[in-house]
Amino acid sequence: MSPYPQTLEWIGDAEKGCLRLIDQTQLPDVLTHLDCSDVAAVWDAIKRLRVRGAPAIGVAAAYGCVLGARSGNLKESIEYLSTSRPTAVNLFWALERMKNLESEDPHRLLTEARAIHVEDAAMCKAIGENALPLISAGSIVMTHCNAGALATGGMGTATAPIYLAHERGISFRVYANETRPLLQGARLTAWELSSAGIDVTLICDGMAAHVMLDQKISLVITGADRIAANGDVANKIGTYGLAVLARHHGIPFYVAAPSTTFDLSLPSGEKIPIEQRDPDEISRGFGRQTAPKNVRIYNPAFDVTPHELITGIITERGIIQPVNEQSVRWSQNT
Ligand code: MRU
Repeated sequence: MSPYPQTLEWIGDAEKGCLRLIDQTQLPDVLTHLDCSDVAAVWDAIKRLRVRGAPAIGVAAAYGCVLGARSGNLKESIEYLSTSRPTAVNLFWALERMKNLESEDPHRLLTEARAIHVEDAAMCKAIGENALPLISAGSIVMTHCNAGALATGGMGTATAPIYLAHERGISFRVYANETRPLLQGARLTAWELSSAGIDVTLICDGMAAHVMLDQKISLVITGADRIAANGDVANKIGTYGLAVLARHHGIPFYVAAPSTTFDLSLPSGEKIPIEQRDPDEISRGFGRQTAPKNVRIYNPAFDVTPHELITGIITERGIIQPVNEQSVRWSQNT
């Protein structure tokens, strides 16, 4: 049995089948699945973070196109799905690939969506293999948000070397940052790593500096939602702060992402659209009011880490290091 969860699955054939997702909003309390049988359900699942993480959003949208074609409005469905979330470029990449098929045949589209899914799993594995030498006996890895199996079609990006190192019997530890305000680190990363028997310790985001110093963190690995041509990386809010802290403490800071997360049309991170989310996620995140009702709230879901702070970007093709426009373009064009 696989040590990591399978986030997405197409059930049945192109005509009557549906997209089955792990409903990530219900974790870690219950492992429950959601069946999406129309485009609106896929859009809603992406918007509400029932499925989330850049590669998984792309795969879900690709399957969503099958549902759109089935109801006879593929073009509108692609437009609609593209409005679900703005930051992860994998969404737009996957929709473009489905559009470029120039087919409205649900069977043909399902074959393509499955190919995107399988390729994503293979890229995760290759990222894991490329990053494996970074983890050795006694290593202490820090990660942020969830760039795990739940966020991809395979074994995750930041978590791929973690799963592989565990499989090879290497003894190491992981610190997972809880990731305010929606707690993807606590609800998802701590859940999937501990379920796989990996030694994971959960900390609050504000503890990262102390833990880097106190526990002698060996390296930080995070995922990415969009990487600009110069290597600037948009990822979950808090990533930039971690990179600054890692630099201060002399700790290598790595980003793990497949080629589908690069957006070479943007010269730098400045133009990456940053999703702004509902203030309620901060003031009453899980149902209880935790801030005054009328206080002004700012809730950017992502930040941009400047490439100068990144030691290397681990892709399925190798590790981009040093991170700059030349090395990024070279890695993506060869
Ligand atoms: O808002 P989320 O939970 O979709 O944010 C996810 C992240 O920031 C991940 O780190 C990123 O998408 C990479 S997932 C392999």
